[in-house]
Amino acid sequence: MYNLLKGKRGIIFGALDENSIAWKTAERVHEEGGTFVLTNAPIAMRMGTIKDLAEKTGSQIIPADATSVEDLENLVEKAVEILGGKIDFVLHSIGMSVNVRKGNHYTNQNYDFTQKGWDVSAVSFHKVMQVLYKKEAMAEWGSIVALTYMAAQRVFPDYNDMADNKAYLESIARSFGYFFGKDKKVRVNTISQSPTPTTAGQGVKGFDSFIAYADKMSPLGNATALDCANYTVSMFSDLTRCVTLQNLYHDGGFSNIGVSQAVMDMFENE
Ligand code: NAI
Repeated sequence: MYNLLKGKRGIIFGALDENSIAWKTAERVHEEGGTFVLTNAPIAMRMGTIKDLAEKTGSQIIPADATSVEDLENLVEKAVEILGGKIDFVLHSIGMSVNVRKGNHYTNQNYDFTQKGWDVSAVSFHKVMQVLYKKEAMAEWGSIVALTYMAAQRVFPDYNDMADNKAYLESIARSFGYFFGKDKKVRVNTISQSPTPTTAGQGVKGFDSFIAYADKMSPLGNATALDCANYTVSMFSDLTRCVTLQNLYHDGGFSNIGVSQAVMDMFENE
């Protein structure tokens, strides 16, 4: 432990269960001396075990549907009040595609589902930032991070409409990041994480082969949820003050690999 976040206050979205990347991040932020409010959609609270995490980290939970501006306004107001000052860090760790859930192929989308998934997975990031921005709730040199996946840049057929949602999310990070940087000295980045065995991750069709392939391709192997939490802690800390508008690959090197020997070996006898 390095006390990297001592005295810093934040909001962490998306801890559903102990596999969640947000869960690991909350644990690591707590260990590094940060205080925060936990939030998730009201329905997820009933399904998940977020109360255990709150107890463990001495945090309060404020339910908010991240697609509801009203919920977000309430969340931000309460968070500032509970934490006793402006917000230094925010983790947006939210993703959901109704088409994926219902097993609709990319070429056979139900557009009501498409719109819902886009709102939850991408536009919610704009809503979170717009509420923070308008309420002047972020402290100077604060840091906002959202989690994304490389299907925003390259084709992964089973990632379905989440690929498009992630591309939109990353664009919001740049576009809003410009104004947040210029007007409030706040940085905004996305972390593009390796496939990770979580509830959202396992929703992707063929996830087991998907994760094994990425692991064999990456010189360092897949980055775990804990690795991602550590990287996010560094992005929340004062050590990364001038990093903004970036999509940061956190994937054991996968994104720059053409092919690895391990994958070539699998075709040796073909
Ligand atoms: P997870 O299933 O543990 O977390 C997703 C969270 O989104 C859940 O806590 C869920 O309740 C929340 N959520 C859904 N709808 C919501 C709404 N309307 N309002 C507020 N919260 C809502 O899964 P994971 O993997 O930890 O996902 C976190 C982020 O990481 C997501 O953005 C995901 O796309 C991203 N990611 C995941 C990867 C993976 O392979 N698991 C790889 C790269 C990025």
